[in-house]
Amino acid sequence: MVLTVHQFFILTLTARLTVSPSSSQFFKGDFVSLSCEEDDSSAGWTLRRNTSKQQRTQCGSTWGKPADSSCNIGMMMHHDSGVYWCESREGPISNMVNLTVTGRSVILQSPVLPVMEGDDVTLLCKTKTTPSNLPAAFYKDGSLIRKQPTGHMTIQHVSRSDEGLYKCDISGHGESPSSWITVTDKHTTTPPPTSSSPPVLSVLSCVGSVCFVVLLVLLVLLGRRCVHRKPEGETQTY
Ligand SMILES: *[C@@H]1O[C@H](CO)[C@@H](O)[C@H](O)[C@H]1NC(C)=O
Ligand SMILES: *[C@@H]1O[C@H](CO)[C@@H](O)[C@H](O)[C@H]1NC(C)=O
Repeated sequence: MVLTVHQFFILTLTARLTVSPSSSQFFKGDFVSLSCEEDDSSAGWTLRRNTSKQQRTQCGSTWGKPADSSCNIGMMMHHDSGVYWCESREGPISNMVNLTVTGRSVILQSPVLPVMEGDDVTLLCKTKTTPSNLPAAFYKDGSLIRKQPTGHMTIQHVSRSDEGLYKCDISGHGESPSSWITVTDKHTTTPPPTSSSPPVLSVLSCVGSVCFVVLLVLLVLLGRRCVHRKPEGETQTY
């Protein structure tokens, strides 16, 4: 009943993976810089990713260029789409980030990290070719939610119900890929909302129930002994 090192690190995520420019969607050919911001900078980290083709590959292996304290991808390609996270030797130490690279001409810029309940969130619908913002339509879970003449939309005081799959559309240019927006509890400080206490609780309750079972068995054994002995003692006194 001891936490493994891996579980320990899940419980105490100490780093935050940031993406610059801050977007979870990119056009083919875009530049991106990923970096791990740690509480304890001496611990050391590597950036890893899962794509549809490869699992847990490290920055600098078949992709990316390790820079000072970041990992840069000069020209994003479709096969760079995937889940990215930071890892130390002991296991994952950061949030995970989903990046999508598209050959389409429209992207939705939505927050990469989970959004805190009550915050304002701005979504931007961008084309590859036009520098200025164009009118755009925004969709959540497949339904039109708003049409905005300026191409960006702010959701004020987000709540759990704003969580979902978002995309946008610019007339004459097309539709963006979809991205998931996660809303976390206001009181949560670590990115995964519920992973900090339940494992500890379940370990404790597990230890508790083992103790309980052991006690129960002991009691039953003791009880049997008493029951077996009593008649003998009684017959002797007669
Ligand atoms: C990455 O892929 C491995 C192997 O398929 C899997 O065990 C792991 O959960 C994946 N990680 C993420 C963050 O998706
Ligand atoms: C990444 O995207 C995939 C596909 O949309 C989704 O299933 C997965 O939950 C996402 N992971 C994260 C960490 O957002």
